[in-house]
Amino acid sequence: MPDLTRISISLETALLEVFDRRNGSKGYATRSEAIRDLIRDRLIKEQAEQSPGEQVAVVTLVYDHHARELAARLIDKQHHHHDLVIASLHVHLGERHCLEVSVLRGPLKQVRHLGDELLATKGVLHGELTFTSGEKVLSGWSAKR
Ligand code: NI
Repeated sequence: MPDLTRISISLETALLEVFDRRNGSKGYATRSEAIRDLIRDRLIKEQAEQSPGEQVAVVTLVYDHHARELAARLIDKQHHHHDLVIASLHVHLGERHCLEVSVLRGPLKQVRHLGDELLATKGVLHGELTFTSGEKVLSGWSAKR
């Protein structure tokens, strides 16, 4: 069992009520677990901003595969950086639209550059680059119980 420290914090009542309601609908068993997730989320984001070392990120892209040469351009970019793209998932959303999810892993600058480049590709309708954390960082924190 990981070391736990009990803390006490002060919050506006209305803020806490909304927080508890949201936690309930999200399925959190305890308020503590919801707060731990918030803290981890912030630390992971900050770490991703500051650490030049290995990063793991997920990029999601939604695009129209009828758009001229777009699919080929996205594939070219990923092949060009094949060392950074460790997995990809392609879903045909409907007649026209595709959803692509790729997991990127590598030095921060390169991961960010590739993620931004894919998102900025002309014809990409929606997308997001989300940094998460690698094994090293997460294993320093307590595991979920
Ligand atoms: Ni498709």
